[in-house]
Amino acid sequence: MGAIKLLVSGGCGFIGSQFVRTAVARDAQVVNLDKLTYSGNPENVADIADNPNHTFVQGDISDPEIVDGLMDGVDAVINFAAESHVDRSILDPTGFITTDVLGTAVLMQAAHKHGVSRFVQVSTDEVYGPVPEGEVDENAALRPSSPYSASKAGGDLQALAFATTFGLDVVITRGANTYGPRQYPEKLIPLFVTNALDRLGLPIYGDGQQVRNWIHVDDHCAGIWTALEKGESGRVYNIAGDQYATNMEITRLILEHTERGEDLIRHVSDRPGHDRRYGLDASRLKALGWDPEVEFAHGLEETVTWYRENRSWWEPIKSGEYRRYYERQYGTT
Ligand code: TYD
Repeated sequence: MGAIKLLVSGGCGFIGSQFVRTAVARDAQVVNLDKLTYSGNPENVADIADNPNHTFVQGDISDPEIVDGLMDGVDAVINFAAESHVDRSILDPTGFITTDVLGTAVLMQAAHKHGVSRFVQVSTDEVYGPVPEGEVDENAALRPSSPYSASKAGGDLQALAFATTFGLDVVITRGANTYGPRQYPEKLIPLFVTNALDRLGLPIYGDGQQVRNWIHVDDHCAGIWTALEKGESGRVYNIAGDQYATNMEITRLILEHTERGEDLIRHVSDRPGHDRRYGLDASRLKALGWDPEVEFAHGLEETVTWYRENRSWWEPIKSGEYRRYYERQYGTT
């Protein structure tokens, strides 16, 4: 049998590019379909650009013609392509539906037509809405709060419907807040790290006591790989570690690692509809042999080091489109 052939959509994004790197290292043949919107970056896969097992195609998952043309011989599709930032979904909700719901359905339709053996839908813990205490498992109701999480929930429901109606072999993963190298600097950790390095303000929404469960991108990718290989068809798998932190705690750690003072902290208006806490029970995936390995304190320190040593990756990003978004979102903080 030849190498497994994967179609990875969104493979130039933060988590997708790390997954593509892992897959190529495991001798999979990868077709990487990415639209290269603002957050997709060919630099993220520059190290495997010439690898014969990696083919990059620029295109949109909601374009049936492009997607159909790529399915030949594909064993499994892993869909990372998504609009994924809550604050952008508040500024501009409708674009999220096109990619996260329609795009997912278009991709699944093509996968079904070509007899693809497995479709992994990469989703998020945010579809459950806030979890004030404890942890929810995969049977919890979906109560998304933001246009972003509602669009991801729509994609998840389409995926389950494709499994029931067409018998598509679907597995859904719902990951916790992910951090690590190459995350676009609009999300909490890379935004605060790069701002701190540049001695710019760190905009904390509301009281900063919101709680998130944090997982390193390598552990998240290993979890997706486990779900791809061992997940049961039609099932959802939560992916989370045991590490919870408030935004204020993260901010203090970032200030420590960048050797900056608390004078950089700016308290700004809270995010509308801000989920106070997420909490995920990942025992279903752990039962398949997966376990997160990166300890948060260590992973965060390494991530700060990566941003310190890779200014050439993020400095060009923090101009142009990013600048316009930033000023709309934060004013001139
Ligand atoms: P974010 O990285 O956007 O992830 P999510 O909303 O998907 O959890 O935000 C993580 C937390 O950090 C969330 O509680 C919002 C908060 N936050 C701030 O306080 N200030 C910021 O500038 C950003 C981007 C996020």
